[in-house]
Amino acid sequence: MSSPAGPSPPHPSDSANIAVLHTEEQIQKRVRELGAQIRQDYEDEEITLLCILKGSFMFAADLARAIEGKVAVEFLGVRSYGDGTRSSGAVQITHDLTTPIQDRHVLIVEDIVDTGLTLEYLKRVLTARGPASLKICALLQRPGAPTDPDYVGFRMGDGFVVGYGLDWAQRFRNLPFIGVVQPPIE
Ligand code: PRP
Repeated sequence: MSSPAGPSPPHPSDSANIAVLHTEEQIQKRVRELGAQIRQDYEDEEITLLCILKGSFMFAADLARAIEGKVAVEFLGVRSYGDGTRSSGAVQITHDLTTPIQDRHVLIVEDIVDTGLTLEYLKRVLTARGPASLKICALLQRPGAPTDPDYVGFRMGDGFVVGYGLDWAQRFRNLPFIGVVQPPIE
């Protein structure tokens, strides 16, 4: 008997494998290091972590716990990739802030800087809202991206990465590690 919803349609990742790039342990260790460094740099200031949805939800949750002292967390939804594997080039806000960031020390938390288009857009839009300071913490950074985050978890090479919040057509965000899709996606 089929389910009431019927059979699931084929997913683009159905025939792919995921090769581990950074294990859960490596990620957790790096996040603790970042948290300690960030707290040291901000001294006893309150830090507003700005979690960029959806990809950063897991990284932001762990980073928030790795920073001691006063931390606030806000959420901003943006989308540029849709369900494809290349940036559309157009960044779209899908969920705006619900609290003003004026005069606050804002730290953007991103999962990956790839083309850098999303961060360039965010820096422009958020600077206009008058934060006391605006910095960036990215878990992953590709070489040659035009934006240089203040804090980087891991610098990486080619390959389409998934896991620890990052998706392929909404799948794989739940993996506790970061993996590369095999065979490589063109
Ligand atoms: C991904 C990722 C970053 C952005 C980075 O978001 O989470 O926000 O792309 O790419 P860029 O440097 O080339 O701009 P995506 O549009 O896939 O949305 P998601 O976070 O909801 O998965």
